[in-house]
Amino acid sequence: MHLPQTRTRSTRFAPNRSTDRGDRVVREGETDALVVSALSVRFGGISALDGVSLTVRSGEICGLIGANGAGKTTLFDVISGVRVPDEGRVQLHGRDVTRASPQRRARAGLRRTFQRVQVFGWLSVEDNLLAATEWRGGGGGVLADLIASPTRRRREFDRRQRASAVLERCGLSSIADMPASGLPIGTSRLVELGRALVDEPSVLLLDEPASGLDAREAERFASLVRSTRDEFGTAVLLVEHDVGFVLANCDRVVVLHLGRVLAEGSPDEIRDDPAVREAYLGAASTS
Ligand SMILES: Nc1ncnc2c1ncn2[C@@H]1O[C@H](COP(=O)(O)OP(=O)(O)O)[C@@H](O)[C@H]1O
Ligand SMILES: [Mg+2]
Repeated sequence: MHLPQTRTRSTRFAPNRSTDRGDRVVREGETDALVVSALSVRFGGISALDGVSLTVRSGEICGLIGANGAGKTTLFDVISGVRVPDEGRVQLHGRDVTRASPQRRARAGLRRTFQRVQVFGWLSVEDNLLAATEWRGGGGGVLADLIASPTRRRREFDRRQRASAVLERCGLSSIADMPASGLPIGTSRLVELGRALVDEPSVLLLDEPASGLDAREAERFASLVRSTRDEFGTAVLLVEHDVGFVLANCDRVVVLHLGRVLAEGSPDEIRDDPAVREAYLGAASTS
């Protein structure tokens, strides 16, 4: 497989360029990064998802809201490859990945963060980012490892450069050598985001990223997501209970209700939608 020897950071995932990175092909003029079509998932008699379709375009931040039990986590699990749907399909950059492993989806540019932050507590902040970078090998197997071939050294240098740039971007450079355990929740979420950003994802799933953050931290997190989207053309799908955060930071919002898409539109349209207000916002504003 051909792997480019040099990469220009600013063009790697630009939606209007063509790049080839392992399984990941960003085509000329591509816009639909993530497409889910007619997804259904049943648990016994319960329809967790019932014919859900949605599209997230490159460079778009799409919010997903819905009351508890609406199907948000199930949808994330299906997109990230933890669960195979009963019906429907998932496409990343035009390729059907409905039955692909989470690892293959990662190679296609998909990254996610978790509602309960997942970092390696025993590793330093920097090593957390390095551990998240995709190791594409340099050929030559163990022998090349032992003698540290020039290709290996170049790739290792490249990984460290990327990790260092992301630490800087996330404001984590000064604590790069600290263990990731015991960091405040706001910082831990930034480390987890850094892990997701270090390979410059083309599709990013964020599971309740504002949970546990104060207003200033949430705004910082949101501005990092926006700048990532701006720079790399990342398609972002975020699930969030904090409706204000979603309406303030998303280009488009999808509302799930009892396993179906109840509404979809701009933040203003969603805010004013009577069905959404009745089914969700009204309830949310009183809770
Ligand atoms: N593993 C499971 N086994 C049985 N029912 C489940 C399972 N996971 C989710 N459900 C049910 O599917 C529906 C959607 O759940 P979920 O996707 O967790 O919703 P949300 O994340 O929006 O709160 C709920 O009725 C939930 O009880
Ligand atoms: Mg959930």
